[in-house]
Amino acid sequence: MKIDLAFSPYELEKKDLREKAVVVIDVLRATSTMIVALENGCQAFIPVATIEDAKKLAAEFRDSHFLLGGERQALPIEGFQLGNSPRDYRPEKVKGKTVIMSTTNGTRALVAARQATIVFIGAFLNLSALCQRLIEGKRDVLIACSGEKELFCLEDTVCGGAVVSSLEEAGLGLLKSDSALAAQILYKQFQGNIYQMLLTSEWGQYLERIGLGEDVRLCAQIDSFNSVPVSREGKVYLDR
Ligand code: MLT
Repeated sequence: MKIDLAFSPYELEKKDLREKAVVVIDVLRATSTMIVALENGCQAFIPVATIEDAKKLAAEFRDSHFLLGGERQALPIEGFQLGNSPRDYRPEKVKGKTVIMSTTNGTRALVAARQATIVFIGAFLNLSALCQRLIEGKRDVLIACSGEKELFCLEDTVCGGAVVSSLEEAGLGLLKSDSALAAQILYKQFQGNIYQMLLTSEWGQYLERIGLGEDVRLCAQIDSFNSVPVSREGKVYLDR
């Protein structure tokens, strides 16, 4: 099994996604939020790149079944019903709903990954379940870090490195690209204390500063969920 990693959507767009299993990761916080929301009964997400796209889609649907969610600078977008905190997506708010979502990096990466044969949603929250799906799938893997405004971010890369390590420990005889190897080495540096790593990361420090530290702690909870959302035809949902 070949395994590669893109540090940002900018890099992802330069890669051949065909026949690959792509894993989109935005630990802080978009993919973590999606995993929690779908576990809380949310029906699906429709990730879009811009706020305008989200508003246009909501206007087309004109249906209370659809909610608007997302953030800029980690804060809720004016006129949207939901932000991007996993704690916003409680069952009483999202059960049976479809959320049209626009975030700075996470939904951008999901839009950039649309050409792939299969796209999985990954974070520390569902790490082992995600790796099990990749092992079952037997496809070459491309890890797509959402990054920070098209650039490298620590937390997504470390999470990507955890996936590489876990697949290697499963004895799959991996062919690692330099990026995948670099991510694995970084993961080994932090594997003992993922919460501390998130607190060290630039975005983690920013979230702490603006009072969203509880989200950082929540996103560090390894394997708190067994579900692995997929992204198909522009929708993110649980397929099993
Ligand atoms: C993103 O997609 O850029 C992040 O999830 C931002 C955030 O933490 O809200």
